[in-house]
Amino acid sequence: MSKVKSAFFCQNCGHQAPKWLGKCPACQSWNTLVEEVLKKENTPLAQVALQAKVLQDIALCALERKILKDKELNRVLGGGVVDGSLMLLGGEPGIGKSTLLLQMLLENNQYSALYVSGEESAEQIKMRADRLGLKNDKVWILAETNTEQIIAQAHSLQADFLVIDSVQTLQSPSIDAPSGSVSQIRTATAEIMDYAKKHHVPVFLVGHITKEGTLAGPKLLEHIVDVVLQFEGDRNHLYRVLRVQKNRFGSTQEIGIYEMQGTGLRPIDNPSELLVNQYDTGLSGVAIASTIEGARPLLVEVQALVSSSVYGTPQRSCTGFDVRRLNMLLAVLEKRCQFKLAQKDVFVNIAGGIRVDDPAIDLAVVSAILSSNMDIALAKHLCFAAEIGLTGEIRPIPRLENRIAQAQQLGYEQIVVSSHHALDTKKYQIEIVALSKIGDLFSFLFA
Ligand code: TYD
Ligand code: MG
Repeated sequence: MSKVKSAFFCQNCGHQAPKWLGKCPACQSWNTLVEEVLKKENTPLAQVALQAKVLQDIALCALERKILKDKELNRVLGGGVVDGSLMLLGGEPGIGKSTLLLQMLLENNQYSALYVSGEESAEQIKMRADRLGLKNDKVWILAETNTEQIIAQAHSLQADFLVIDSVQTLQSPSIDAPSGSVSQIRTATAEIMDYAKKHHVPVFLVGHITKEGTLAGPKLLEHIVDVVLQFEGDRNHLYRVLRVQKNRFGSTQEIGIYEMQGTGLRPIDNPSELLVNQYDTGLSGVAIASTIEGARPLLVEVQALVSSSVYGTPQRSCTGFDVRRLNMLLAVLEKRCQFKLAQKDVFVNIAGGIRVDDPAIDLAVVSAILSSNMDIALAKHLCFAAEIGLTGEIRPIPRLENRIAQAQQLGYEQIVVSSHHALDTKKYQIEIVALSKIGDLFSFLFA
C-alpha cells in the first residue's frame, strides 16, 4: 500500500504548502492552512492524447445557447444559457437560490433537467415545486452528493440541464477529504466541469456564501467557472437582485430584478414603478434618484431623516447606501453650504431594500437630507442625477440621456443634472435643471 500523501491548503485562497504555516504566503491571511489528503493512491502519468493547435487553425463555431422563458435570467446570462458552460450562483441562505433554479427548470418545459440536491430531500423539493405551481415532467430529482453517481445519472438521463445544490455538499470518491473543504470542492468541481464540457451540458452550481459576503470555498472556484452570479437582496424585503460578477460569454453590466411572491419569483420588467412610491405623500425627506443598475436606468427613492441627536456622538446610518459616502456628503454640506449637521442624527434609506453603488445618487441623497432638515417636502415629479465632488461641485455622470429618457417616460417633469453636460435640452419634454454647485441646489429647491 502506498503512503497516504497530504498537503496543507489555505482555506482562503487555495495555496498549497508542503508543511503547516501560520500565515499563508500567497494571501497573507493568518491561520488558514489546513491539512488535506492529496490522493488515495498514485495515479500513472497521463499520456499525451491531444495535440496543441495553432491559433489560426482553430475553427470558430457560434455559441449554442438555450433561450430561457425568464427574460431577466436570459439577459443576465448574455442572451441565454451557453451549452457546456459552468455557472456558479451564490447568495445568502434563504435568499431564493434553489427557488430560482427550480423555477427555471420547471418553466422551460421544452428541456429536460436533472436537479441534484445534497441539502434537501426529494420530498422537500417536490413541496417547493408544488408551491411554484409549475409542471415539467422532464425534471428529475436526485438527492445525492457523490460526483461519480451524479455524473452517471446525468449521463444516462441525457438531461439538457444539470443543477447542483450545492457545490459545498459534493463529495468526489477519488479524494479523501470532507465535503466543503478546499481540495474536495476543487476536485468535485473539476469532475463536474469535465462532464459539462465533454457533453455540452450547461451546469448550474449553487454556492454558499461566507459571513463576509464572498463565495465560500476557494477563490479559484470563481476562476474555474464560466459565469459567476450573485443573488442578493434583503430577506425582509421582497426584491431580489441577480448580478453577474463574471461572464465569459457576455457583459457583467446586466442585472435582473425579481420579486419574491408566495408562488415563486416574479421577474420585474420595469422596476422603477415598484421602487418609487407612487402615492402622493408630500412628506419631507424623500428624493428620487435616477441611477443605472447594470445596463438599465432605474429610478429609486431615497429617504432621509435628520433629527437632533440625543447622544453625544450623533448617529449616521444607511440602508442600501455606503455610510462613508454619506459622511463625505455631510462634510461637504457642512463646509460648502454652512449646514450644521454635526449635532444631528442622519439616517438614509434606499426604499425597496436594494443597494445602490451608482455615484449619481449623491444629489438625491443630499436633497433628501436638506428636505428632511428643513422639513419641507420636495416638489412632486422631480428627480436627480448627479455626483457630488469634495469641492461641492455637481459633477457629470455617464449615460445621462438614458436616465433622462427613463424619467420622462415615467412622467417626471423636472430632472436636476450637472451643468457640465452638453445637452440639447429642447429634445426632451422634461424640464432639465442644470446646476454647477451644491449651493445652487439649496436655492433651487427651497426658493
Ligand atoms: P430557497 O430557495 O430555499 O433559498 P436558498 O436556496 O437561497 O437558501 O428559499 C427562499 C425563501 O423564499 C424561503 O424562505 C421561502 C421563500 N419562498 C417564498 O416566499 N415563495 C415561494 O414560492 C418559495 C418557493 C419560497
Ligand atoms: Mg437552497
